[in-house]
Amino acid sequence: MTYVSRIKRILVTGGAGFLGSHLCETLVAEGHDVACVDNFFTGNRRNISHLLNQPNFELIRHDITFPLYVEVDEIYNLACPASPVHYQHDPVQTTKTSVHGAINMLGLAKRVRARILQASTSEVYGDPTMHPQSEQYWGHVNPIGPRSCYDEGKRCAETLFFDYHRQHRLRIKVARIFNTYGPRMHPNDGRVVSNFVVQALQGEPITIYGDGLQTRSFCYVDDLIGGLRGLMNTDDSVVGPVNFGNPVESTMRQLAEAVISVTGSISRIEFKALPQDDPKQRCPDISRAKDIIGWQPRVELMDGLRKTAEYFERLLTAGVDLGRR
Ligand SMILES: NC(=O)c1ccc[n+]([C@@H]2O[C@H](COP(=O)([O-])OP(=O)(O)OC[C@H]3O[C@@H](n4cnc5c(N)ncnc54)[C@H](O)[C@@H]3O)[C@@H](O)[C@H]2O)c1
Repeated sequence: MTYVSRIKRILVTGGAGFLGSHLCETLVAEGHDVACVDNFFTGNRRNISHLLNQPNFELIRHDITFPLYVEVDEIYNLACPASPVHYQHDPVQTTKTSVHGAINMLGLAKRVRARILQASTSEVYGDPTMHPQSEQYWGHVNPIGPRSCYDEGKRCAETLFFDYHRQHRLRIKVARIFNTYGPRMHPNDGRVVSNFVVQALQGEPITIYGDGLQTRSFCYVDDLIGGLRGLMNTDDSVVGPVNFGNPVESTMRQLAEAVISVTGSISRIEFKALPQDDPKQRCPDISRAKDIIGWQPRVELMDGLRKTAEYFERLLTAGVDLGRR
């Protein structure tokens, strides 16, 4: 009898980041051999410290803009700063991480015949003229603005994934991730959920940019990780792109009120000018994810916000400086 092991060697780039650390945690719990690669640009050892003594977890400090040689069965390519504050800090490096990083990881996947999943983004739709956004929509993206290093870098990475698939028969999966939130988000990355929660916990005014009527959809991290796992496990004919996000929209005002309610905060709401290129509305059409893997978000916003607030409260209680990454 031939024994076929279901335990895989899995590489997670960006594994010490917000999403990557949750993915590593899930994969380690499933018994896989997990190699977490990170250059700690926005990642933090705190996110993976509980995994460091697990025999099936390995941490490799490495920048994916340089080639990497490891033997693996699957690659999740998550390495890339994800919030405007972080990706605009060094925009050239951001594009390099998306583009050179994709080339290096695709090259590795080609050499070891690994399956590879790209963490793409709803930002590939830019400031969309179609709502909700389905995967057929090609987007409305500014190629020369301050957000372009991220948006265009991610678009180019998708192009590379599909060219490696067509040219080299590589087994690819492309996930387009919409706003995701949860424990281990960066406290000060300018993203709306972390901003609001930290401001509320510290009793500071909650800052809304613009009139607060712009909408966003928020997916809880556990739901998102389930989606990425589901997509990776589909058969080779499924390549994507597949949207993952929450189709239920909230305005910034509603979100601010929800955060005030779960934290019991005394904070008031304050309005400031809208930054350049800020999309007015973003909402996923998740029919494809539903059809292919029966995926849809399950965690209610109030429950997810509560868990997120508990996480930030623990950091504050432990005296972690939320002003530093
Ligand atoms: N969180 C979201 O809402 C969201 C939405 C859309 C897409 N995504 C995508 O998901 C991925 C993970 O996002 P996140 O929210 O966890 O962000 P994050 O900043 O917490 O994680 C990114 C990780 O990548 C690492 N990294 C950055 N550049 C690197 C490089 N050159 N080499 C090695 N490691 C590098 C960082 O140190 C960090 O640990 C990103 O690719 C992001 O574009 C996230």
